[in-house]
Amino acid sequence: MFEYQRALPVEEETRFRDVLFQTLNIPHDRWDDVRENIGRDNMRVLRHDGRLIGGMGLHPAGQWFGGRCVPCCCVTLVGISPEFRRKGAARALMTSSLQELRQSGTPIATLYASTQALYRAVGFEQAGTRNQHELPMSMIGIEDRTLDVHEVSATSPEPFRNLCEQRARRTNGNLERTAGLWNRVLTDSKQPVHRYLIGDREQPEGFVVFTQESEQRFPLTLSVRDMWGATPAAGRRLWTFLADHASVGERVRWFGPANEPLLGLTAECKFTDVQILRWMVRIVDVQGALEQRGYPPAVSGELHLQVADDVLPENAGRYVLEVADGQGTVREGGRGELSCHVRGLATLYAGFFSPQTLLELGWIEGSPEALQTAAAIFSGPEPWMPEIF
Ligand SMILES: CC(C)(COP(=O)(O)OP(=O)(O)OC[C@H]1O[C@@H](n2cnc3c(N)ncnc32)[C@H](O)[C@@H]1OP(=O)(O)O)[C@@H](O)C(=O)NCCC(=O)NCCS
Repeated sequence: MFEYQRALPVEEETRFRDVLFQTLNIPHDRWDDVRENIGRDNMRVLRHDGRLIGGMGLHPAGQWFGGRCVPCCCVTLVGISPEFRRKGAARALMTSSLQELRQSGTPIATLYASTQALYRAVGFEQAGTRNQHELPMSMIGIEDRTLDVHEVSATSPEPFRNLCEQRARRTNGNLERTAGLWNRVLTDSKQPVHRYLIGDREQPEGFVVFTQESEQRFPLTLSVRDMWGATPAAGRRLWTFLADHASVGERVRWFGPANEPLLGLTAECKFTDVQILRWMVRIVDVQGALEQRGYPPAVSGELHLQVADDVLPENAGRYVLEVADGQGTVREGGRGELSCHVRGLATLYAGFFSPQTLLELGWIEGSPEALQTAAAIFSGPEPWMPEIF
């Protein structure tokens, strides 16, 4: 009934834009940015009787878990024409794309859901957050200008890449950005984006990328797209730099984990969360996903899993995950002491909920020993990412 197509033909670009931009309410003048950031080859089309009725975009990126970058597809721009809704079109689109990812060896997929039910039906589950925090500049209370701050005029990701990778290794859930995802952070065709490095220009210790927002000219909100201080001095300089906008600025907004470490440096931490989103992960290939993430180096153990997966039945079955020296190896078989749907496995894999919480939610079942082993193996910082896609 529905046909899935792996690239967008040039002659159907306008139809694709019209359908998807209507469904997602995106102004048509953003098409050039969207096409450039995703790339026509990464757009997927769904047809009914030959007619284009929906589609999606894929960013073939990476996502960091346990200090290693796992190949990942970030799913975006999913939309189905309103007249074809609730006939299983989106489910068919998602199922075909997951089969495609499985065939191409991509072990996980990640997305932000406008409605969880659709994505849960094909095996995605909550796996991390994107919290936008807001702090009045008057609460920063730090004055430390010891380190230099350098403006970055070029839009290349190179000056920022090392720092982002360092942060990604130390946390969970950050993306290894594609060129298109970098573009979305560092540039904007509609307004100036300000980019700065902190410390030595060649070996920076921190960075900040932001836009200035205001309803009238003043007061400004500094809307930070991404920032980080790798050292205490860089963190202090970062906050000082932001507070140096206080004569015309009122507040800073930025993205971080719920237990934002940078708020450990400010004088006050009366922050608010302006927006909290949860992103979802799909384990596309159980063995590949478990073997390609990293694990806490001090932990060793063996976890006997039993996984159910009705959409990608190749995943269903028993696995033994053996973890040692920060690496996992997987073999089929074993005693299946911890059993879960592939959805529960996604949450566990990302370290978003503890095994005990997953048990309370009814998302996994297992012996106390298996739960303890899983808790040690999947422990780590809370998964988060600064961007949406
Ligand atoms: C969300 C959207 C893609 C769903 O497309 P669709 O073809 O109607 O979805 P399907 O018929 O395949 O639905 C499959 C399942 O998803 C869930 N689902 C779909 N639309 C839903 C909705 N609006 N609310 C709640 N659940 C929904 C249901 O569980 C549904 O199964 P059911 O019909 O057996 O109950 C479509 O409504 C759309 O384009 N919306 C606007 C854009 C958008 O929100 N895109 C998603 C961005 S993440």
